[in-house]
Amino acid sequence: MNVQLSPGAAQGAPIQILRATAEDSPHLWVWRNDELTRKMSVNSERVDREAHEAWYQGLLASLDRHLYIGLLDGVERVGVCRFDMESGNGRAEVSINLNPACRGRRLSAALLGAAMTRFRQEQGVNLSARIKPSNIASIRCFTANGFVLVGGDADMAHYRYDYQPYTYRPSASRPQTWAGWHAKC
Ligand SMILES: CC(C)(COP(=O)(O)OP(=O)(O)OC[C@H]1O[C@@H](n2cnc3c(N)ncnc32)[C@H](O)[C@@H]1OP(=O)(O)O)[C@@H](O)C(=O)NCCC(=O)NCCS
Repeated sequence: MNVQLSPGAAQGAPIQILRATAEDSPHLWVWRNDELTRKMSVNSERVDREAHEAWYQGLLASLDRHLYIGLLDGVERVGVCRFDMESGNGRAEVSINLNPACRGRRLSAALLGAAMTRFRQEQGVNLSARIKPSNIASIRCFTANGFVLVGGDADMAHYRYDYQPYTYRPSASRPQTWAGWHAKC
């Protein structure tokens, strides 16, 4: 399926988010071994089908790993977003891999945004991402969704996304204590 989108259309792209199932496995295996995916991954080795299946079954059974598939117009698998709960810091690390056939159409930010919305409904934890500094498309995709650079090195940049909980912020002019309040009256 060849969907034509005008530049900037990604924001309105009709991407539906579904939990990944066993049926998605062969697609994810092909995408995982794509050249760009391997180049941008922490582990750039090719993964054989058997190893992939073992990893995938473990992932589906895990309570700490959440995998979502984006469907474009209800039919085309546009890509995958994974959220792995990090131990200790209450965050989930996010990664994205677009179906190679769907790249370059400015769909990645829409997919990530839709997956973040879905994940927040289910878990609501803050997020992190590790992105190679050379991976400009990914950096644009994550920063478009509110991720900010917090550190890293020449090999890997670290980004975070913090949900903003409602916090009461007294104005500077308002007394901060009851004593102050009475003094002002
Ligand atoms: C990273 C990835 C999801 C981005 O998707 P994509 O389809 O290639 O990129 P998009 O078409 O959505 O473009 C995203 C942005 O990057 C820009 N961009 C894309 N390719 C670019 C390039 N080679 N150089 C500079 N900018 C680029 C686009 O113009 C767009 O920016 P804008 O919307 O702010 O103008 C995709 O390339 C991918 O799956 N890569 C392999 C896996 C990976 O790298 N994952 C990230 C690690 S978490």
